[in-house]
Amino acid sequence: MNSRSDAADIRSPFAIASLALANRLVQAPMAGVATRAFRLQARRFGVGLVVTEMIGSYGVYYRNPRTLAMLAAAPEERPLLVQLFGARPEVMAAAAARAVEAGADAVDINMGCPVRKVMKTGAGAALMADGRLAVRVTAAVVAAAAPVPVTVKLRSGPAAEVTVHSLAPRLVEAGAAAICIHPRLAVEGRKGRADHRVTAALAEALAVPVIASGDVDGPERAAWLLSECGAAAVMVGRASLGNPWIFADILAGERPRRRPLVEVLAEMEVFDGDLCAEMGEERAGRFMRKFYGWYLRPFRPGSELMRALFTAADFQEAARLLVEAMPEAAGYQPRA
Ligand SMILES: Cc1cc2nc3c(=O)[nH]c(=O)nc-3n(C[C@H](O)[C@H](O)[C@H](O)COP(=O)(O)O)c2cc1C
Repeated sequence: MNSRSDAADIRSPFAIASLALANRLVQAPMAGVATRAFRLQARRFGVGLVVTEMIGSYGVYYRNPRTLAMLAAAPEERPLLVQLFGARPEVMAAAAARAVEAGADAVDINMGCPVRKVMKTGAGAALMADGRLAVRVTAAVVAAAAPVPVTVKLRSGPAAEVTVHSLAPRLVEAGAAAICIHPRLAVEGRKGRADHRVTAALAEALAVPVIASGDVDGPERAAWLLSECGAAAVMVGRASLGNPWIFADILAGERPRRRPLVEVLAEMEVFDGDLCAEMGEERAGRFMRKFYGWYLRPFRPGSELMRALFTAADFQEAARLLVEAMPEAAGYQPRA
């Protein structure tokens, strides 16, 4: 891969068409995770752009209240990239217009989701297999969202072959203002290593910014993607689960390090507060359960304690259990 002397610093600003961003660190879209509370947290830890989980265009089109609620943007999280999935150009266009009305600063089209339920409908990575439809969807969303920029998140290909190199330029021609690439084939899911040679080739070929997603776990990898692969920005997904500090570490150029349990609990409390405000205490209590394993993994809580945490009604109860069971949690003082 060619080294680029003009490589940008992760902390330097960049733009997706008219959308100015403070830095080149982006929180990855994650279904079932990247709700508003998660995005607010990513913002508190410094990312320049937050992204919603993927939102069904039909749900928006038919005004499903739960789907519409997913579009709601909080002022503190903006700029916000709203990701939509779907395969019908007019439905995607209507959903994009609605997303913009609700405060989206940019709209992303999901062409990377490998989940069968999504691909069966022709959406997600399945769109990559039908280039003409992918172009039509992109053009329709671009027209409906204008002047708000539209991005497309792609895989290397929908099945066994790398096809992104022929498709991506057509999407740019249709008006995509940036391409986000997760360089694995859809059939690979998230297994193996992302092949960022694909990222580098796209960055070389396209006149729009390329945002790289896949296996970013610290500042070295992020800097490598910017300098060696020509990425304009990098996304962090799994490495941020239970570790929002990684965003700040990457921006500071510091090796990610484990924080003391007391600090982790204090952050979980803030996150839980935002979750409660977003979805109500009961749902937040259940939603929080998937995060306990991620936050607590470095502290090896043991299976008995984890079972107890999964039955806790809310974070306060879980925190009490943790303080009782783990000496390292002893100094934690709930704010409430
Ligand atoms: C739990 C989870 C949910 C995801 N949901 C989405 C999604 O809704 N839309 C999308 O484009 N990518 C989704 N992804 C893929 C990520 O955005 C990212 O491209 C991928 O995980 C590789 O990056 P990473 O190694 O930093 O995690 C998801 C990933 C995970 C782990």
